[in-house]
Amino acid sequence: MSASTADLDVVRDYWNRRPCNVRHSQARIGSKEYFDQVEARKYMVEPHIPAFADFAFWKGKRVLEIGCGLGTDATNFARAGANYTGIELSSASLGLTKKRFEIFGLSGTFYLGNAEELNEIIPSQKFDLIYSFGVIHHTPNPGRVIEAAKNYLDTGSEFRLMLYAKHSWKAAMIDAGMDQPEAQSGCPIAFTYTKEEVADLMRGYEIINMQQDHIFPYIVEKYVKYEYELQPWFAAMPKEMFRALEQHFGWHMLIRARLLA
Ligand SMILES: C[S@@+](CC[C@H](N)C(=O)[O-])C[C@H]1O[C@@H](n2cnc3c(N)ncnc32)[C@H](O)[C@@H]1O
Repeated sequence: MSASTADLDVVRDYWNRRPCNVRHSQARIGSKEYFDQVEARKYMVEPHIPAFADFAFWKGKRVLEIGCGLGTDATNFARAGANYTGIELSSASLGLTKKRFEIFGLSGTFYLGNAEELNEIIPSQKFDLIYSFGVIHHTPNPGRVIEAAKNYLDTGSEFRLMLYAKHSWKAAMIDAGMDQPEAQSGCPIAFTYTKEEVADLMRGYEIINMQQDHIFPYIVEKYVKYEYELQPWFAAMPKEMFRALEQHFGWHMLIRARLLA
């Protein structure tokens, strides 16, 4: 087994043990109520996602999502009328996405597998959008995913992805031992990037836009009990000041790119 294959097994196990956002609701897992609550909490805590994804824009268009997790954004692309395809490494996560599509009467095409091997898994075709939110920094070889994605893009297509930002409040807190990359501890891989490193990773692409957003402002001990109280230092801060902080030192690097002509 090569080193990167071993790494990938650890990554898969981690996301299978606890799919991303799986505790966003206390309702019966897999129920309609559960998925509605997961969505409400996700977009309350990460309100920049709907604007970045711009679900309605992709009506009637072909969308490929890399790393759909338990399918919150997937559901919204499909609901908006996109022709949706998703790939996910974790069977526990993909199972929930499929169940979610069933419950909401949506249709999509799903692949279980490693996005680094995209070209061996998803038959050759073009998509109008490749979307990947908070995924590619978790795989052992992010460059392989970025490279493989090129084969599914036309000159008019877009690639929208979120990668973790190195120059961020969150990364500073992680470095200081006061935070961790994910809600659950022990995340095996979570690369972070400067804007220059993103440009280097995305060789062969033209970056249309790159901006930082998102600082998690709540007291974690309360948040896990579904109570939303701001950390005192953020509560004391004028809203405009907090927004400025998010835009300069946010954890999420929101990237829009297309193939270089
Ligand atoms: C932080 S979660 C994000 C999930 C989803 N995009 C969201 O925003 O809720 C990261 C996801 O990436 C998936 N992932 C990690 N490496 C992957 C790979 N090589 N191929 C496909 N999916 C991968 C994990 O299984 C996990 O579901």
